[in-house]
Formats: sequence, C-alpha cells, structure tokens
Amino acid sequence: MLTLTDDTTRQGALRFCDGKGRIITGEGTTPVPQLINLEELQDIASSIERGGEVSNEALRQMAGAGGSIGGARPKANVLDDDQLWIAKFSSAGDASPVERIEVATLKLAREVGLNAPEVRLVLERTRSPIALIRRFDRESTARIPYISARTAIERHGAEQGAYTDLAQFIRQHSDNPRADLHELWSRIVYTILVSNTDDHLKNHGFVYAGDFRWSLSQLFDVNPQPERHRFLKTAIIEGEPFAASLELALEAAVFFNLAADEAKKMARIMARQINGTWRDIMRNHGVTGADLRGLEPAFEHQEMERALSL
Ligand SMILES: Nc1ncnc2c1ncn2[C@@H]1O[C@H](COP(=O)(O)OP(=O)(O)OP(=O)(O)O)[C@@H](O)[C@H]1O
Ligand SMILES: [Mg+2]
Repeated sequence: MLTLTDDTTRQGALRFCDGKGRIITGEGTTPVPQLINLEELQDIASSIERGGEVSNEALRQMAGAGGSIGGARPKANVLDDDQLWIAKFSSAGDASPVERIEVATLKLAREVGLNAPEVRLVLERTRSPIALIRRFDRESTARIPYISARTAIERHGAEQGAYTDLAQFIRQHSDNPRADLHELWSRIVYTILVSNTDDHLKNHGFVYAGDFRWSLSQLFDVNPQPERHRFLKTAIIEGEPFAASLELALEAAVFFNLAADEAKKMARIMARQINGTWRDIMRNHGVTGADLRGLEPAFEHQEMERALSL
C-alpha cells in the first residue's frame, strides 16, 4: 500500500526506492489535486461515506489525494501553487462542527504565541466546511525530514511516554533547546487549558534542522474535548499520573528550563488570553448556539480557574 500511494505527498522526506535505487512514484495514482478542486473532492468523500455510487475514476482521485497521510479523519493533500496543504473534511457523522473548531483552536494557539501552522477554513458557508492546514514538512517542493515523538523517544506499539522524555530528547538533539523546551511546556499548558486529550506520541513530532539536529515541529491535531475525562495520553512527568493538571505542569517547569515564577506568569497570561477570546474566535469560524455552549466545559474548568488566579 505504501509503495502504491503517491510519492509527492509522503510524510517528511521518506521515500521508497526499487532494487536499482529508482524512486517509486506510486504509478497509477492521480496527481495531487489543486486547491480549486476541493469542492469536487468533498462531494466524492461524502458519496463514499453515504455508500452511494462512486465511479472508479472518482475513487482513484480520492486515493491519490489521500496519499499515505495517517490519522483517523477523512483527509486529502492539496496543492496551492506548489505548496502542499492537508485538507480535513467534515464528516456526516460529526456531532459537532469539528473542522470549524479545529481551525479556530489552531488559530487561538497562534494567538497565544505557539508555533502552529497556517490554517484556513474553506467552504465556510456550507454545512461541510474543510480545514486547510499548511504542511510543515514541505518548503515549496523541498521535503523536510520528519519523525514523530514516538520515533524520537523509541517507543513501540501502544507504549506511551512523558513530556519530560521529550524534554530529554530536545536537550540532546534540538538545534535550539531553550526555545523548544519553552514551546513544549507552553503546549502542555495549552493542551490542559483547551482540554485537548489526544496528545499521544504521534501527535507530536520533530523536523530536521540540519547538522544532525531536530527541532520541534509545528503544533497539530489539538481539539477541545468537552465531554472527556481530564486525562492526557502523554504524562507530564515520567512516572507520575496522566492527569491534565496545571499543578503537575508547574511542577514540571524545571525540566523545561523554566523558573517557577516565569512558568506561573506564562500560564496566567495564556489563560487570560484564552479565557478572553475563545468564544469570539469560535464564533468567527461559525461555531454558534448549542455548539458553542457545548464547548464551554472544555474552556471553563478548574484548571482554567487555577491558571487565571496564579
Ligand atoms: N501541518 C502538518 N504538516 C505536516 N504533517 C502534518 C501536519 N499536520 C499533521 N501532520 C501529519 O499528519 C498526521 C495526521 O494529521 P492529524 O494528526 O492532524 O490528523 P488525525 O490524527 O487524523 O486527526 P483527527 O484526530 O482529527 O482525525 C499527523 O499524525 C502528522 O504526522
Ligand atoms: Mg493525529
């Protein structure tokens, strides 16, 4: 399957060669679609989902667009000029406007100063908006090597890890350890404050910085989960519980080269910004009424209160 999918969209700089060292391009797949064809792809994706009649040609087009990108939701690669973007489609089964919320949450992350990719919402006025996320493992057509955090800290299968393990990797391999440590710590706090619970080791990663160094990739796959228990998939401190706890984040600050006062101040500032703006950002992306109310428990909780009162 991996050798049949399109070579142009592969993650990072991973490529497959045949016995003679020639790059396997994934013959037979259609070229990566241009941004302007997204609506057509959305139609194909919905008819596949509805179990309707879909021509072989349309299926091929969808497979070509999908490439080998991982993850759970229907998505495709699209080109805007020669820059690759990930397009995440709305699904008929979505109980809330997932893609509107995802775009808004990544934009909010940028506003609080996190290193998140450029994102936009397209087909915004329809019932099936699409999230467009700029790929950080491409600079125009150049491929930037990428490894997940799971690869970085050598975990296998469903093994989990801790943010302090990632801090250790950063200390040893980053081209700018101080900046990466502060960024990662801020991401822990953001994750807690917006109630993201899907922070497993494949939702963190590193891009190659040259000279055998790796830097933290941009942020991705951060989604508020109002209905979930407040537990993380990656523990804040190795050996400690997986609770989404601000207390633990503050205790961990020292592992991220942050003094206690500095950490408290950063968390307080971030909490104030999120608290003051999340509703407007959601509204600006079309999340309103019951959907907006449904998000309240993700943004109004005990950890947020604690951060605001630091
Ligand atoms: N901006 C990006 N640039 C390059 N690669 C990315 C980017 N965002 C995500 N990826 C890669 O694509 C994979 C799938 O993306 P993502 O995690 O956002 O989707 P997902 O796991 O399907 O999310 P969902 O839980 O919403 O279904 C990620 O694990 C990551 O390896
Ligand atoms: Mg993911």
